[in-house]
Amino acid sequence: MLRISVLRLLGRTGAGRVSLLESSGPRHYGSGSQCAYDDARDTRTYFTTPIFYVNAAPHIGHLYSALLADALCRHRRLRVPGTTATRFSTGTDEHGLKIQQAAATAGVAPIELCDRVSAQFQQLFQEAGISSTDFIRTTEARHRVAVQHFWRVLKSRGLLYKGLYEGWYCASDECFLPEAKVTRQPGPSGDSCPVSLESGHPVSWTKEENYIFRLSQFREPLQRWLRSNPQAITPEPFYHTVLQWLEEELPDLSVSRRSSHLHWGIPVPGDDSQTIYVWLDALVNYLTIIGYPNVEFKSWWPTVSHIIGKDILKFHAIYWPALLLGAGLSPPHRIYVHSHWTVCGQKMSKSLGNVVDPRTCLDRYTVDGFRYFLLRQGVPSWDCDYYDEKVVKLLDSELADALGGLLNRCTAKRINPSGTYPAFCTTCFPSEPGLVGPSVRAQAEDYALVSAMATLPKQVADYYDNFQIYKALEAVSSCVRQTNGFVQRHAPWKLNWESPADARWLGTVLHVALECLRVFATLLQPVTPNLADKLLSRLGVSATERGLGELYFLPRFYGHPCPFEGRRLGPETGLLFPRLDQSRAWLVKAHRT
Ligand code: MSP
Repeated sequence: MLRISVLRLLGRTGAGRVSLLESSGPRHYGSGSQCAYDDARDTRTYFTTPIFYVNAAPHIGHLYSALLADALCRHRRLRVPGTTATRFSTGTDEHGLKIQQAAATAGVAPIELCDRVSAQFQQLFQEAGISSTDFIRTTEARHRVAVQHFWRVLKSRGLLYKGLYEGWYCASDECFLPEAKVTRQPGPSGDSCPVSLESGHPVSWTKEENYIFRLSQFREPLQRWLRSNPQAITPEPFYHTVLQWLEEELPDLSVSRRSSHLHWGIPVPGDDSQTIYVWLDALVNYLTIIGYPNVEFKSWWPTVSHIIGKDILKFHAIYWPALLLGAGLSPPHRIYVHSHWTVCGQKMSKSLGNVVDPRTCLDRYTVDGFRYFLLRQGVPSWDCDYYDEKVVKLLDSELADALGGLLNRCTAKRINPSGTYPAFCTTCFPSEPGLVGPSVRAQAEDYALVSAMATLPKQVADYYDNFQIYKALEAVSSCVRQTNGFVQRHAPWKLNWESPADARWLGTVLHVALECLRVFATLLQPVTPNLADKLLSRLGVSATERGLGELYFLPRFYGHPCPFEGRRLGPETGLLFPRLDQSRAWLVKAHRT
């Protein structure tokens, strides 16, 4: 029997700033403005969220993980239409000591707790518009089959052996800790208790015979995989963190627990005295979803994008690829990592009583409002702070005032009495900047707007590829501001439809602004699907005209026909997004108390 020293925990992630991808500029400027995305059309893509622990109700951090995956997946679907091109999984992680203990504390059977909390996640995701195609629970029979098969493959390849494990174990984090990562803290009765240095969660000393995975054999293969795939882990600082971890010793990993200690899990095939380690169990969910061990799973693997929080990077970027390589499979295509939400400057925790309930937020700010807030303000490279006033301020200024205001300005009866997409006049706005003439009305800033708008879809696509959805939204928001500036500059309310010279220019101003709105709404679909639908319907854009592949901005400017010109706008359906500061009296109350 081999004796294993305490497994060394790989250091915690450092988060830094990510550099921006250069936008490739207006590729089609002058000859049309369609974006080139063709490189994205060739493969099937499978997006995953982490599967969520069911020891407690969902909070906004969980919703954020799911929203990032949802937005990436929705953007992809708009780029590559067709229901068979993308798959998107989420689910609940229901085994392990953490759940076993939570059920015992609650005085219920583990499966009862799992059923209850898993249903809460499913309901939240449905309400929040998470467009997943698959939901997995690790207590399902299909998952047990997949995990036990995966185990047998590792065993048959000589990668599992029995050994004595001795060291600290943190049940809350479900991980092993070396002595250097453990500290002492006064417990409830004043005595000193060992806790994890990073999470502050209690740890306990474990000494038992387990199955051990030969993780140490995979240090060099993992290094080679990462070096030849510099985009495998995004944002870049996390990629370097993992490479740094791999510079250190990579000890073998204990992958089972004594069943007498951990009964809530999947038994080791052929040895009921041991239960499979919950992280091995959980990670295999990504294969179960796509039908593993049936051969059909190969049509989705390894073109997978895992979206994960920074706290579970080591499990996804080291353990998982090593296990996959061990089982003769390829590591995941991409791992997108995000940081955490704090609340009023503090870590969210049940004990601090500051956990923000996402369902309350969806009620208060609307589904689209809250989705927009989390994705616009959440920056994957660093932690972000949540407080109510921040949500109200952002949504009022960007969705209600800027975007809603722009729509009003182009559709108000007084300015657009015919309720149509007016014609664009190439004499008032010639495609050549700098031309002078009695009927030329466009100014230098107007050409800057057209240029910014023409590059926006490609810029947004690049940001999505680089996992910078917040940057994509910032770019859209900046163009909304620029468009409002355009309308303000030309003050259509001062122009007169009765005067032929004014009318051509007035129509052109409205046409350009409506074209901008159409592009904004198309690009906002992955983040605010309902609001975008409302806006596109108001503009009279049909369901088949909403994809990214066909997103031509202002074709008339480039000498092409515009399918929208002269079309009736859709029916008026009220405010695009209501201002919250007027409608949310609860905030005022909250301030007073
Ligand atoms: N069950 C494991 C994952 C297994 S995946 C094979 C787990 N579950 S979790 O419920 O604790 O976390 C799920 C996700 O929520 C993780 O990506 C985690 O980073 C994320 N978040 C948990 N707290 C968070 C914040 N405060 N802010 C943002 N995301 C957070 O880990």
